[in-house]
Amino acid sequence: MASSLPSTSGARPVASTGHAPPAGHAPLADLVGAGTSVPCVDGTERPYRDLDSAASTPAMTSVAERVVEFLPMYSSVHRGAGFKSRAATAAYEDARRRILEFCGRGGGDDVAVICRNTTEALNHLAYRLDLSPGDVVVTTVVEHHANLLPWARFATRRYVECDGDGVFSVADVVAALDQGPTPKLLAVTGASNVTGWLPPIAELCDAAHERGIPVVCDAAQLAPHRPLPKGPDFLAFSGHKLYAPFGAGALVGPRAAFAEGEPFLAGGGAVDLVDLDEVIWTDPPEREEAGSPNVVGAVAFAAALDGLEQIGWEKVMDHEARLAARLVDGLGAIDGVRVLGPAGAGIRRGAGPGTADVGHRADVDRLAVATFDVEGVHHALVAARLSAEWGIGVRHGCFCAHPYLLRLLGLGPSDVAEARRQVMAGDRRRIPGAVRASCGLGSTTDDVDALLDAVAVLASGETAPVPYVQDPTTGDFFPVTTAAGWSPADRAAGGGCARG
Ligand SMILES: Cc1ncc(COP(=O)(O)O)c(C=O)c1O
Repeated sequence: MASSLPSTSGARPVASTGHAPPAGHAPLADLVGAGTSVPCVDGTERPYRDLDSAASTPAMTSVAERVVEFLPMYSSVHRGAGFKSRAATAAYEDARRRILEFCGRGGGDDVAVICRNTTEALNHLAYRLDLSPGDVVVTTVVEHHANLLPWARFATRRYVECDGDGVFSVADVVAALDQGPTPKLLAVTGASNVTGWLPPIAELCDAAHERGIPVVCDAAQLAPHRPLPKGPDFLAFSGHKLYAPFGAGALVGPRAAFAEGEPFLAGGGAVDLVDLDEVIWTDPPEREEAGSPNVVGAVAFAAALDGLEQIGWEKVMDHEARLAARLVDGLGAIDGVRVLGPAGAGIRRGAGPGTADVGHRADVDRLAVATFDVEGVHHALVAARLSAEWGIGVRHGCFCAHPYLLRLLGLGPSDVAEARRQVMAGDRRRIPGAVRASCGLGSTTDDVDALLDAVAVLASGETAPVPYVQDPTTGDFFPVTTAAGWSPADRAAGGGCARG
């Protein structure tokens, strides 16, 4: 299907028009694929409304252009004396320098390890911290699996719980930090991929550092939307979530943390000298990057960081704040729709020192992300119908944050046990979940309004124009139709969406 679709558009950056429409009304960046139309079950094509930026973002046009410009010089990195190898090595090292600058950590004692993505960065760090099973890592139930599972492999996790609105306070984290044995690390997200909630990272870092505990911030969702915080010792983030979908991510941290011990990957490029029974590892960051690096990904990553900074954080935040308010308030106003998390109905006000100030809905500082359910309609069916009938792309399921979503949904141990039993039997039809809509630089108020109109139709109980069937092995729904793009033969293109 994708190959038959147009791949570029004429959407212009607001900054270049000279007559910028109000924030939120036009895309804030020129993205490859903007303006693409997709087939719907009524046989027509509609503009694709990409409300799935929290999963992956399209490439900025400037990123794609930079990649095309670089490709003639593509060659080995740190592995060749030829002119092109030297050029590719320079481009790669320039990208590393840009990543450090983007984190506000250029010119110091920090290194950027270029890896595949946030998941790899956090696994890398978990391995490198030389933890043992008795060591404690404090983390939270709000985390993405990428910031939960790696710690379990090497240490004991101590969890900070969230309240019914899906938030925790600084005091909650302090209580976990102060329990014995003293933790070796605080591993916390900079922004939730489910609710868009922004934990108070600066205060959390202060509290951890007062106790001599280092902090890693999972910045996968934060990096595309906010300047990165200075406090965390380590940062992990992904290029594909910030308009550079070419397979690079970064782990940033103090050089000293990587100076001793075995690297995460062993192999060429990470060594000074090898004999059959001896290895002398080289210095970081190369020590951490065995194997030929993804130079195209690194070049794209750096170009996207340039692109974000050229737009400017104020514009990014203004654009997204307007979309966030419209999205969350709009969904919350639809009968039968429940928005999960601090932006939703059960809003908690800040109460006392160390309490996260989640305030009133309109004042909540959050990403333009809303996770919701529609009363009486399976989350997978909501997502399938939005796509097949309106051309709107969202995600459904548990968003790789099962513990958090189960709490937000208010499910008890017996519900969870039953869901586990069914999944283990290969039946995902009743897997708990919700629907997530998430905006980025390419999203507009029109996109949000199209979603709100469509969700209102779904919530009203209006009959679907075609029947839908559910695949028990994935839990996904498919329209029963021969319409182009949606026939049974086209289903192979769509993998399960609810896995996490
Ligand atoms: C908060 C958060 N952390 C980590 C990840 C993992 O990122 P990646 O898939 O790029 O490894 C994601 C991805 O959705 C995320 O949202």
